[in-house]
Amino acid sequence: MTDHLLIEQSDRVLTLSMHRPDKKNALTRAMYSAMAEAINAAQCDDSIRAVIIQGSNSCFTSGNDVADFISVPPSGPDSPVYHFLKAICHAQKPLIAAVNGPAVGVGTTLLLHCDLVYVGEKARLKMPFVNLGLCPEAGSSFLLPRLLGHLRAAELLLLGEEVSGARAAEIGLANKALTDGDAVHQAARQAALKLAALPPNSVRLSKQLIKEGVTRQAELVMEREGEYFAELLAGPEAREALTAFMEKRPAVFI
Ligand code: COA
Repeated sequence: MTDHLLIEQSDRVLTLSMHRPDKKNALTRAMYSAMAEAINAAQCDDSIRAVIIQGSNSCFTSGNDVADFISVPPSGPDSPVYHFLKAICHAQKPLIAAVNGPAVGVGTTLLLHCDLVYVGEKARLKMPFVNLGLCPEAGSSFLLPRLLGHLRAAELLLLGEEVSGARAAEIGLANKALTDGDAVHQAARQAALKLAALPPNSVRLSKQLIKEGVTRQAELVMEREGEYFAELLAGPEAREALTAFMEKRPAVFI
C-alpha cells in the first residue's frame, strides 16, 4: 500500500496516477509494487479494458528514487522494479501514457511498453543511465534502436540527451504532442474510452499479434540489462553519480 499512487476506475478504464509531488514523483519500491499489482489485476478483470499511466500536469516522474537505489539496490527478478517492468511488458490490455514535465529514466523507458503515448509539447524525456554510471533498463537497449534507429538511440542512451515532448512526437517516441497538461490527460482519456468501447477480445489478440516477437526479445534483453545494471549500481561510478545527485553537486569520475 502507498499514498503515492492514486488508483481510479471508471467507464472500464483504470487510471494510475503517480503522486509524490515533493520528490517529482520519484518511484519508490512501494510505488512499483502497487503499480505492478494494479496492472496485473487488471489483466483478469473484465470490467477493465484499458489502463492509463500518468503523473500530474507538471511532472510525469523523475524515475527511480535515488535514495531507494542507494539504500536498497534492486536485487534481480524479485525486486519491485522488475515486477513492474514485467507487468508492463506482458500486459494484454492496452496501456496508455499521459506525460507532462520531466519523464526521467524509467519515466521514459516505460513508455516503450505502452501502446499509445501522449505528451505535453514541453515535456522533458531523458534517460541518463550512462551519466549515472548505470546502463539502460526496461528493455530499452533493444526497444529504442528498434523504434528510432541506432544513431538516435545512441544520442538518447549514450549521451543521455533530453528530448522535448514536441520532438518526441516528431521522432516517433510519442503519438501526439499537445499544448498543455489538461489536453494531454484528455487525449489519453479519450483514447482509453475509444479502446474500451471496442470488442475486447479483438483488442487483446491484436495487441498480442503486434507485440509477440518484440515481447519475447525485450524480456531476454531486460534480464541481461538487469545483471549489468546491478553490477554497475554496486560499483564506484554509480556510487559517485548518485551521491553527487543527493548532495546537489556535479559528479566527478576519476
Ligand atoms: N529520486 C529521489 N529524489 C528525487 C529524484 C529522484 N529520482 N528526483 C528528484 N528528487 C527530489 C530532489 O532531491 C528534491 O528533493 P529536496 O526538495 O528534498 O531537495 C526534489 O525531488 C525536487 O527535485 P529538484 O531537482 O529540486 O526539482 P527540479 O524541478 O529542479 O528538477 C528533475 C526535476 C526531475 C529534472 C530533477 O530532479 C532530476 O533530474 N532528478 C533526477 C532524476 C534521475 O536521475 N533519475 C534517474 C534515476 S535512474
